[in-house]
Amino acid sequence: MKNSNLKKNSELLYYSFWFIQNVFGIKKPLINTMVILYDCNLNCKHCNIADKLKNIPEPHTMSYATAKGKMIEMYKKGARVCYFEGGETTLWKDKDRDLSNLINLAKEIGYFTIGYTTNGTNVIFEQSDVISVSLDGPEDIHDKIRTKGVFNTLMNNLKKTNHKNIFANMTISKINIDYIEETVKIASENKAIAGIMLNFITPPPDDIALTKEEKIIAIKKIKELKKKSYPILNSSKALENLKNENWQKKCPFWMSAFVLPDGSEVGGCPMKSDVSCRNCGFDAPREYYFISKGFLPTIFELTKRFALSMK
Ligand SMILES: C[S@@+](CC[C@H](N)C(=O)[O-])C[C@H]1O[C@@H](n2cnc3c(N)ncnc32)[C@H](O)[C@@H]1O
Repeated sequence: MKNSNLKKNSELLYYSFWFIQNVFGIKKPLINTMVILYDCNLNCKHCNIADKLKNIPEPHTMSYATAKGKMIEMYKKGARVCYFEGGETTLWKDKDRDLSNLINLAKEIGYFTIGYTTNGTNVIFEQSDVISVSLDGPEDIHDKIRTKGVFNTLMNNLKKTNHKNIFANMTISKINIDYIEETVKIASENKAIAGIMLNFITPPPDDIALTKEEKIIAIKKIKELKKKSYPILNSSKALENLKNENWQKKCPFWMSAFVLPDGSEVGGCPMKSDVSCRNCGFDAPREYYFISKGFLPTIFELTKRFALSMK
C-alpha cells in the first residue's frame, strides 16, 4: 500500500514536471506507441493497413532487439506510457518471445503505464496495465466490419478475464453511425469493459468516411449518452472538437511518438498525411492538445473517468 502510494506520487511528480517543461517550451514525448507488426488476422472495412501492406518494405514485424532498443531510447527521451499497436498485437512473435515479453520488458525499463490494442480474437495478456479492445457495434454490425464470428469470439474471451482495465474502442464510420447508442450500451453492460472511447474513421478509406454533418449528429448523440452517465472516456472538449477538420495545425505531434516495425519514428501518428490529418477522427490528439494547454476541465474529466474505471 505504502509502496503503491509512493509510486503514484512519484508518477504524479513526473507528470507535473513534464507539464511545467512543456509550458516553458521543452517538448518531450510522453507516450511511446510501438507499432510492433502490421500483420493482422482480420481485414476491417475501415482499416487500410492490409491494402497498404504490399507497398510497405519489410520488415513488417519488429524484432525483439529493435523493440528493446527503441523502448529504452524513448524512455530516455521522456516517454512514460508505452502502448503496443498493430496490426494485431497479440500475434506478435520473435522466436519464442510473445507480447508478454514486451510488456514485461516495458515494466523493467520503468514505464508507468503499459497497454496494447487488440481485436480480442486471441488470448488476453493479463500482465498489461490497460487493454483496448475494438468494439464497432452490435454483433451483425461488428461482424460486417470485421468478419463473421469476431463479435462472439471477443465476447467469449472477455468472459474469461478478470482484468480490471479493459476499455472498448469504437471507430465510427458510415457503416455503424446509427449504432452508437447500442454499442455504448453493450460496453457499459459488459462486466469486463470499464469504459468506451469513441473515434471517427480517419480516411482513407474515403467511401465510408463521415461528412461534417454526420459528425455533428454523432457528437450530439454521444453528448446525450455522456449526460446519462454512460462510461464514455472522451472529454467533452475533445468530443466537441472531433467535428473540427484541419486538426493538424493543433495536433501536438511531439507528445506521442510512434515507432514503426523497422525502428523508424513518426511523431503523432503513422497515418500522417495531408488527407488523413485534414480529416483526422482520432480523439486522442484532441485530448493531448487540451492536456498540453493545461485545460483543467479536460484534465479533471479524464482523471475522474480513468480513476473511476481503473482499478
Ligand atoms: C489499427 S487497430 C490495431 C489493433 C487491433 N488489430 C484492432 O483491431 O483493434 C487499432 C484501432 O484503430 C482503429 N482503426 C483502424 N483503422 C482506422 C481508421 N481508418 N480510422 C480510425 N480508426 C481506425 C481500429 O478499429 C482499432 O480500434
